[in-house]
Amino acid sequence: MATIKIPADLDAVLNKAWEETRKVPGHLGENEARFLGLLAACVPAKGAIVEIGSFKGRSTVMLANVASRYSLGPVVAIDPHNSPILLNHEANPGASSYRDFLDSIFAAGVSNHVESHVAYSTDVASSWNRPIRLLWIDGDHSYGGAKKDLDGFFPHLVRLGVVAFHDALNAFPGPIRVFVEDVLGSDRFGPAGFVHSIAWAQFRPEEGHAFREKRSSLARRASRLIPFVESGNELHGMAKRRYKFNRFRVPHSAIDPGHWVSLVDSPPPR
Ligand SMILES: C[S@@+](CC[C@H](N)C(=O)[O-])C[C@H]1O[C@@H](n2cnc3c(N)ncnc32)[C@H](O)[C@@H]1O
Repeated sequence: MATIKIPADLDAVLNKAWEETRKVPGHLGENEARFLGLLAACVPAKGAIVEIGSFKGRSTVMLANVASRYSLGPVVAIDPHNSPILLNHEANPGASSYRDFLDSIFAAGVSNHVESHVAYSTDVASSWNRPIRLLWIDGDHSYGGAKKDLDGFFPHLVRLGVVAFHDALNAFPGPIRVFVEDVLGSDRFGPAGFVHSIAWAQFRPEEGHAFREKRSSLARRASRLIPFVESGNELHGMAKRRYKFNRFRVPHSAIDPGHWVSLVDSPPPR
């Protein structure tokens, strides 16, 4: 195994990065942002950080802050910046999030550590040829969208690298289904879990079979959520309560740095 050291100043770096991140509008919670920061610093592999879906730059600022502090950047940020729902195109046709995104990364002092692509993920994926150590998927939350995001960049994820999906435990059809079917269902992945609504897994192509039991047990619980969200319709009443009950049964608490390293930097279970 590669060995990874937790930087002595990681807490201070995450605190500072969160101070910058919290200023940026978006739906990434504090614990999720701190977990992303941990990923930016402590994935035991070499390669780029690729972010699909930047919006106004909330997760970009966290990732770039931490990666730049340890010279582990840049962050490749991919977004066409034309989300009709988030930008309310009905009221503001043609609105873009790009200006706000640029302002966010500039104000946070990380613009030199971000490689921005104003493009759809599939367009960038078609000519992508660099190794990836962290693939952060927070773009199109439909099933087809999340599947294309994973399929387009997964061939470049390096051994011991990590894939993470946002909103897997929020009521969207794509992230949870792709994570359960394509990641937890694959013997090419090792340790895996949820932190708040982020689903994550480490690519361990040679030894993933040794983690099968753990992945299957997580998949059994997580897969119960899929029927509630697959239509993409908002949940109400009894369906909403049952969804929340099933979500409660999926372990998703925060991971501290020591625990993280023991998960992703240790040999497979016997
Ligand atoms: C939930 S927001 C991202 C939030 C952001 N990560 C943050 O921390 O605030 C989803 C973003 O994905 C973008 N998006 C949608 N489809 C996409 C695609 N196919 N490729 C890249 N980005 C996409 C949208 O334009 C939108 O800005």
